[in-house]
Amino acid sequence: MTQASAFPQRDILVTSALPYANGPVHLGHLLEYIQTDIWVRYQKLRGHNCFYVCADDAHGTAIMLRAEREGISSEALIERIKSEHQQDFAGFHIRFDNYYSTHSEENRYFSEYIYRQLQDNNHIATRKITQAYDPEKNMFLADRFIKGTCPKCKSEDQYGDNCEVCGATYTPAELINPRSAVSGATPVEKESEHYFFRLPEFADFLQSWTRSGTLQPQVANKLAEWLDAGLQEWDISRDAPYFGFEIPDAPGKYFYVWLDAPIGYLASFKNLCDREGIEFEHFWKADSPAEVYHFIGKDIINFHALFWPSMLHSAGFRTPTAVWAHGFVTVNGKKMSKSRGTFIMARTYLDHLNPEYLRYYFAAKLTGSVDDMDLNLEDFALRVNSDLVGKVVNIASRSAGFITKRFNGELGSVTETATLQTFVDAGEEIADFYESREFGRAMRRIMELADIANQYVNDQQPWVIARQEGQEAELQAICTNAINMFRLLMTYLSPVLPETALASEAFLGATLDWNHRDQRLENHPINPFKPLMNRVDMSQIDKMLDASKEEMPAASGAAPAANIEPIADEISFDEFARVDLRVAEIVKAEYVEGADKLLRLTLNIGAGERNVFAGIRSAYTPDQLKGRMTVMVGNLKPRKMKFGLSEGMILAAGPGGKDIFILSPDSGATPGMRVM
Ligand code: 2FM
Ligand code: ZN
Repeated sequence: MTQASAFPQRDILVTSALPYANGPVHLGHLLEYIQTDIWVRYQKLRGHNCFYVCADDAHGTAIMLRAEREGISSEALIERIKSEHQQDFAGFHIRFDNYYSTHSEENRYFSEYIYRQLQDNNHIATRKITQAYDPEKNMFLADRFIKGTCPKCKSEDQYGDNCEVCGATYTPAELINPRSAVSGATPVEKESEHYFFRLPEFADFLQSWTRSGTLQPQVANKLAEWLDAGLQEWDISRDAPYFGFEIPDAPGKYFYVWLDAPIGYLASFKNLCDREGIEFEHFWKADSPAEVYHFIGKDIINFHALFWPSMLHSAGFRTPTAVWAHGFVTVNGKKMSKSRGTFIMARTYLDHLNPEYLRYYFAAKLTGSVDDMDLNLEDFALRVNSDLVGKVVNIASRSAGFITKRFNGELGSVTETATLQTFVDAGEEIADFYESREFGRAMRRIMELADIANQYVNDQQPWVIARQEGQEAELQAICTNAINMFRLLMTYLSPVLPETALASEAFLGATLDWNHRDQRLENHPINPFKPLMNRVDMSQIDKMLDASKEEMPAASGAAPAANIEPIADEISFDEFARVDLRVAEIVKAEYVEGADKLLRLTLNIGAGERNVFAGIRSAYTPDQLKGRMTVMVGNLKPRKMKFGLSEGMILAAGPGGKDIFILSPDSGATPGMRVM
């Protein structure tokens, strides 16, 4: 018997959220791609016609400004970032069927098409609104591009909509001394015409769509609250200059990045369809029998469960079968933090650790809910070592040697049929867990089976039997049983551990075929066993954390993990008092040859001069700094750098790039004064 016939083939299209093309992928993002990839690999393994598409989210002001700062075109920037993203995803074995860009002709086509449909259906409104405008850069400023002093607690350098120090929320107009974060100019108010999607028209549609099994219960409840509170029209236009698609018949007006981002799912799939001869309409027509799933982070539910289905509905496409949200990633119980080294980029992780460790750890802790996920690094090492190395791989390594040495690599017959049948039957339950994204439960069930297999080997003691005369058949049977158990375990783990699965197939000389898993491996040659996975060593993790501390990535945009630096761990007053902060005058500032981030500063701190290398070149030219007062840590141990000795640090604030602001004391402060 085979199980294959029990499953009618399904047509399934799956997406993960499109990462912004303005920064690297980090572990917070990876939770989602790993979750989706596991689900997709599982569907493919079951023989379904499943496609996984994604793309870089390439439009918007942030990308335009970053390209400008780097002195390159937006197109060049998004090309470069896309290729970095693709390398990182490949490093984690994320296997897309297509990885595209929202800056593509297909996406322009669908964005215009959908917009015209919305217009024809009277779902677009236009009206004038007043917004902050940068008179120097000649551009409108979104709230996050306006900075000033918090009207409540008077902290400087706060964003236009909320204060990171006291948590107050306000409008940019309430900021004290507001200025454009782009040019530093004082914003003025200016009117312009905007295009709106008439979301309130979809209230009834959304009432039923959001309650029809398309969303997780927690998410559906949240949506019900929003729907009860009433929907607002959605502003879908932005004024030039903007990197995106111009709105048809509206010169100087562009689609807001969030309008064409989800349309990027269609565009990427269309690009795949054209390349591989897949019928696009079959998946996207209004009454399509195919299934469409969007995996997203919980921070972008409104876009995917309000705007997106309404747009599709109005434009005559099918709506998603389901939208599945996951929670945020914390590391060691806290938000990811640059100073703790836990804001870990995909690349940094890959430089130190095997991607399958993380795939397994995330799988072991994933549920179908939107709960946050903690990556506890000690637990991570323990779990990988005990489950994967200690339990699963161990079964093969304990049995394979005897088969190779004593039986010329040839397996015998299975004798432990009942136990093996338990393993085969468990596949049903594990399948249900995968299907419902209860990967943690799937992993637990698999590890229970691994315990049974190890117990079997312990009880049979092949190493004792091996020393007894006339027990050849017995020894061969024990090892054959164990290797068949191992094969089933690896079949079940293969969506999570694709590389180890491949290596296992090479070792077994046989495929890991879920639907034919009842077929045993008997009287079959296997290859000599090579270690399939090494233990994680805490020192590798420590090195990764150290490397993360040294990195200062540029803004990575909204991400499925919180990316606002939290207040660091408390220190005592004594610890604080040990830091000798001094007013310093920047007497000289120079570029450093070969260092594109650093400036060399000569600082007068009253008692003499200090040489300091500061990573502020992206924000200041030497001319802008000469003669200014700032604050430095005077008693920092000098550090030998590639370019010379750095004898302290100056204080600055900001997320990086152009947004670094050196701290300046009020006038009256003179070099050398102690800062208290
Ligand atoms: O939040 C983000 O990172 C967005 N770039 C996700 C877009 S998902 C989709 F709609 F394109
Ligand atoms: Zn405040």
